[in-house]
Parts: sequence; structure tokens; C-alpha cells
Amino acid sequence: MTEFEELEGVGPAIAEKLHSAGYDSLERLAVSTTSELMEAAEVGMRVAVKVINAARDAVNMGYEKASEVMERRKHLGHILTGSPALDKIIGGGVETQGLTEVFGEFGSGKSQLAHQLCVNVQLPPEQGGLRGKALYIDTENTFRPERIEHMARAVGLDPEVVLENIYIARARTTDHQMLLAEKIQEMAKEGDVKLVVIDSLTSLFRAEYCGRGALAERQQKLGRHIAALHKIAELNDLAVFVTNQVMARPDMFFGDPTKPIGGHVLGHAMTARVYLRKSKANTRVAKLVDHPGLPPESATFQIVEAGIRD
Ligand code: GTP
Ligand code: MG
Repeated sequence: MTEFEELEGVGPAIAEKLHSAGYDSLERLAVSTTSELMEAAEVGMRVAVKVINAARDAVNMGYEKASEVMERRKHLGHILTGSPALDKIIGGGVETQGLTEVFGEFGSGKSQLAHQLCVNVQLPPEQGGLRGKALYIDTENTFRPERIEHMARAVGLDPEVVLENIYIARARTTDHQMLLAEKIQEMAKEGDVKLVVIDSLTSLFRAEYCGRGALAERQQKLGRHIAALHKIAELNDLAVFVTNQVMARPDMFFGDPTKPIGGHVLGHAMTARVYLRKSKANTRVAKLVDHPGLPPESATFQIVEAGIRD
């Protein structure tokens, strides 16, 4: 509700009306017409015009200069993964102001990478971190503080301090997951959150919306969720790291019979997308896929006691 109340001329009463009329974001308000808003929220014309204009001012709907984009990108932060080879193929580590996705089958190392990033983000910049905190939205109940302790010790950090700086939330439904994402904005305002992990981004969506009939709805909701995450990443200069499962493709007999869940909605929305594959023993192969500015190279890394390493 606070988002609407921050608009000029909108008090709690009008904010409430807007919410109950189904307006759930500033963008939604900004693209509304005066008559639509008057009817749906039962407000007068003067109020409707005012609210729409305020929402338009609040969301940046216009153009910006390439030089401004360039300036912002100069401040991009990177969190190292622990494997220089992996860092290299994704452009120098996991980037802030964007979404990085890793997908792969069970045991491919997605959650291990997520744990490692929660530790590494706390390192000072000269050691590959951002001296920041981490938020971890866990949908599969696989977050393990003991693992964090190991990894923290291995990079010379005090495990107790490291655990203090990671906030865990267990999401139980897609609505809950989306609410937790909204909460990030508040948390990020207070402290130096530099990393948000969602492990996994898609499992609840997959469980709740099964069957062909539910696909369109699922994709729409997932799209909204991802858009919100992008906004949070940009506004707070933080990195969003999400994991994703693969679905079996029985129609494929050759090559790798796997594809990430979520289809195009996800694919095109990611800043970097990495496919993880199990190889011999502790070895994993990571491949960068669909990146707008980097070649689709592969890297090999290992999962060892100390964490992710070359
Ligand atoms: P799902 O969530 O099931 O889809 O898999 P995931 O991709 O998240 O896999 P995860 O990151 O949990 O990787 C699990 C693998 O990491 C295990 O099979 C182990 O090979 C390895 N691993 C986890 N902990 C340790 C550890 O303490 N030492 C070593 N050497 N390997 C570990
Ligand atoms: Mg996992």
C-alpha cells in the first residue's frame, strides 16, 4: 500500500480504493485511462487525473540516453563464484542490476553455487565480494547453514558473522514467493543487501500450475514476478541469482534432453543464463547460454569441501 501512498495527493483512503479495484502496481496505474480509473475505483475525474499523472511521474516510462545507461553500467558490481573459469564465461562474476539464472538437473550444483555466493558477497571488493548482505528465498528447503560455515571458514570469514548477514525466507506458494520478493525492497532500503537468491524460481509455479490449461496463467504470473525482480535489482544495484530445474524432453533422442522450465518468458528476461551439467566425480560443466553480449563458452569447476573452486 505504501507505494501508492507515496504518490502526491494519494492518502490511505484512495490507496485502499485503488487496491481493492485491482490496481497492484504503479505501472498498472500509469497506463490506466481516466474513465477506467473513475469507474473501477469510484473516484472523481480530478482525483483520477491526478493519480494517473503522479503514477506516470513515479515510473520512469520514457527514454534515457545511452550515455546514462553507460554511466549506470560503470557502477555494476560483480560477485565472484569461487571458480575463476566460471567467472570468466559469465563476464567477471555474477552481475548486480540484473538476473542470473543457473539451470540443470538435480545435484548439478545450483544450490551449492547459491550458498557460495551468499558467502562471497560478504567479502570486500578486492577479494571478489561487495561487502553486502544476502537474502535467500528458499522454496525447496535446501538451505544449509552448516554448509555456509564451511565455505565462510574457507575464505577466511568468521562463520558467525556470515550467518548473521544472510536472511532466509521459506516460500510455500507462488503468492508467498511474490510477496517475499516485494519485501526485498524494504529490506534493501535498510541495509546493504547486494544479493538475492531464489532457489528455486520455478518449482512452486510448476507445482501450482500444472497441465496445459494453466500454462498461460503461469507464464503471465512468472513474467510479473521476473519484472519485479528486475526492478529491485536495478533500483538497489543488487544481484538476483535464481535457480531453475530442467524438464525432460522425451521427444529428443540425441544431445542433451533437457530444457529449462519457464520457456521464453524466462529465457529472454535473464541477464545471464548458465546451464550446469554433472561430469566426473565433483566436476561440473557450466555453459553460458543466450547471452546478449558474450560468447556461449563453457567452463569446468568443482564442488569441494571448501565450496566452489576451479
Ligand atoms: P537440486 O536442487 O536437487 O535440483 O540440485 P542442485 O543443482 O541444487 O544441487 P546441489 O547444489 O545441491 O548439489 C549437490 C551436490 O553438491 C552433491 O551431489 C555433492 O556432489 C556436492 N556437494 C554438496 N555438499 C558438498 C560438500 O560438503 N562437499 C563436497 N565435496 N561436495 C558437496
Ligand atoms: Mg538445489
